[in-house]
Amino acid sequence: MKVDVILGLQWGDEGKGKIVDFFAEKYDIIARFQGGPNAGHTLVINGKKSVLHTIPSGIFRPNCMNLIGNGVVIDPIILMAEISKLEAAGIPVRERLIIAKRANLILPSHRLLDAASENAKGKEKIGSTLKGIGPTYMDKTGRNGLRIGNILEDDFQDRYNSLKEKHLSLLRNYNFNFKIEEQENQWFEAIDRLRTYTIKDSVYYINNELKAGKKILAEGAQGSMLDIDFGTYPFVTSSNTISAAVCTGLGIAPHKIGEVIGITKAYCTRVGSGPFPSELDNEVGEKIRQEGGEFGATTGRPRRCGWIDLPALKYTCMLNGVTQIVVTKLDVLNSFDKFGVCTEYEYDGHRTQELPFRLESANIQPVFEYKKSWGSVPEDMSVKQEMQEYVDFLTNYLEIKVSWVSVGPDRNQLIEFK
Ligand code: GDP
Ligand code: IMO
Ligand code: MG
Repeated sequence: MKVDVILGLQWGDEGKGKIVDFFAEKYDIIARFQGGPNAGHTLVINGKKSVLHTIPSGIFRPNCMNLIGNGVVIDPIILMAEISKLEAAGIPVRERLIIAKRANLILPSHRLLDAASENAKGKEKIGSTLKGIGPTYMDKTGRNGLRIGNILEDDFQDRYNSLKEKHLSLLRNYNFNFKIEEQENQWFEAIDRLRTYTIKDSVYYINNELKAGKKILAEGAQGSMLDIDFGTYPFVTSSNTISAAVCTGLGIAPHKIGEVIGITKAYCTRVGSGPFPSELDNEVGEKIRQEGGEFGATTGRPRRCGWIDLPALKYTCMLNGVTQIVVTKLDVLNSFDKFGVCTEYEYDGHRTQELPFRLESANIQPVFEYKKSWGSVPEDMSVKQEMQEYVDFLTNYLEIKVSWVSVGPDRNQLIEFK
């Protein structure tokens, strides 16, 4: 068996949660491999909305185990709040969740460092979700981090104290006021609860399950344009978000990767700072925001909106080895007579479909083509000619099959393209 992957091809919020939940019916294990509670994955099941930050989107499926893999960074406070909400809704999380021993912990002082760093950047700030993601991955690669497995060891408190002291001395170098005590108390309470859930050496677990013929789906967070190596650096997150990260974030060999299902919206959004060539900072963008409900699932911030960026999509399809594409939120374009697609960039006096080293909006102009909208999605979910034409156009441009389109937030609002 191979591990299939679902991940975002844009700047995040493509609808990964919905699509993972839908596909999860056919899998035994759903595994998050990177990122942390900067993610907000929305699922709507029979009209009831849930937002997941750390827990994989297979948690509502009785047939699925859900693994938080070694590549994920975990804030125990946020994880426990998520678990409490799910348990209150009757989901037996304890039976369906496994947490990797090697996953790194987000400390209260990591969150403070994130805030202090953003504050010090002033106008240059990344627009981080302020969940402590950057400082935690820095400590991981700097070989200072605390991991989930450490909470089961006798010297955990000592290790915590020594890392916290290091952070406090860093914080003194920032002109930043903070209080840590309240957060710290909550954090240790959450750690105590966390110890009672299933914590495993997930690398043996997942490889043994794979060998036993179990079907595994890896769930990405963020999007490929936020990848630390290949995204719009420095306006990115602090992990690799592309398919290569499935290997390092779960402990799976490259030849075990199967289908790579890339998710894109029918248009494009971005939260936080950084270049976004096809952005519509005008009433059209505002209309997309309202029609699409484009407000952050984690921070509530309004998302920046624009037309779909095909050069960027082609680039991320290449990076990920995408084998099929799911296009979400086509219904949001219902109320537009025409909608745009960015097919090329005008850059330094020439046209190109390749992304330059710096994707700064000032130097780069999107070239738009306009398409006629389908106006509405019929109740029987049949495909109107204009929608078929848009799907065919995307398939031809990207040279990858569009296998499904999503036409509403609910679990079953999907149309298959054979
Ligand atoms: P994720 O981070 O990739 O899981 O995406 P988010 O949950 O942050 O944002 C996607 C938003 O779009 C959520 O509010 C979803 O409920 C919603 N959504 C997903 N698919 C569709 C769709 O096809 N149509 C509409 N109208 N909303 C959708
Ligand atoms: P999901 O999984 C959209 C963005 C932040 C910021 C940058 C760095 O829901 O698609 P960080 O907190 O990682 O230091 O923020 O990345 N960002 C996201 N944008 N969706 C996400 O996750 C995001 N996770 C981080 O807005 O610009
Ligand atoms: Mg999201």
